[in-house]
Amino acid sequence: MLRSCGSAATSYGRVMHMRSLLARLVRSPRTILHLAVDRIVAPLWLRLLGVEVGAGCRFEGLPMVSLADGARITLGRDVVIWSREGSSGGIAHPTILAALEPHSSIVVGEGTGISGASIVARRRVEIGRRVLIGAGAGIWDTDFHSLDPAQRRVHATRDAACAAVQIEDEVFVGARTLILKGVTLHSQAVVGAGAVVTKDVGAGAVVFGNPARVVGTVRRINQGERGS
Ligand SMILES: CC(C)(COP(=O)(O)OP(=O)(O)OC[C@H]1O[C@@H](n2cnc3c(N)ncnc32)[C@H](O)[C@@H]1OP(=O)(O)O)[C@@H](O)C(=O)NCCC(=O)NCCS
Repeated sequence: MLRSCGSAATSYGRVMHMRSLLARLVRSPRTILHLAVDRIVAPLWLRLLGVEVGAGCRFEGLPMVSLADGARITLGRDVVIWSREGSSGGIAHPTILAALEPHSSIVVGEGTGISGASIVARRRVEIGRRVLIGAGAGIWDTDFHSLDPAQRRVHATRDAACAAVQIEDEVFVGARTLILKGVTLHSQAVVGAGAVVTKDVGAGAVVFGNPARVVGTVRRINQGERGS
């Protein structure tokens, strides 16, 4: 009896959801366009470009992808990528995924969410599972240009320093942060908005500032304490 009540309520919920979706569709041609881009164009476009897109990945808007011949970009199951301005807090540009050299790779783990961030690999950027990446964050394994002006005159980008970046499971990367070359963010670390991270961050540590410094741990902050 209880089960049949439950399933009736579920079907009623589904019907109501479909009705409100249909009502939205009829009201707004823009919604139809957005739904088409998000559900059909984005996954298809990424696959055509050579991105490996896991089952259940969801897109809001179209990410910008640059994939060199032989490079690899892999999105695990249930990854969510936000790229539409205004669709989620403070998104100012589409998510950028750029694997620039033949052996570069970007790997994004299951259930990770990325909001209008820029992820650039000359070597490797590896992002774990259930990581949250805020709007405007830059995760770059390269300085992009040599620090030596003589080198830059010869070639704008050749000889730039590079070192792989790793972000472990359940890290929270705040909005407008920069995660620079060679950094590992260990599991469940939190990077406060606007931080510039130049060194590894320990598991469960909370950092902010420029350059980022440890200000506490997730556990202590959850218990209402601050300071390291
Ligand atoms: C500035 C930069 C080029 C320096 O690189 P580097 O010479 O390899 O410097 P290191 O990583 O060895 O860091 C040296 C020190 O400076 C600090 N530091 C490095 N970059 C920093 C930055 N952007 N902000 C604040 N501190 C920084 C490091 O924490 C380290 O501090 P310490 O001496 O207390 O240990 C680099 O860190 C950087 O900012 N890269 C991004 C460049 C960029 O924006 N490119 C895009 C252009 S389109």
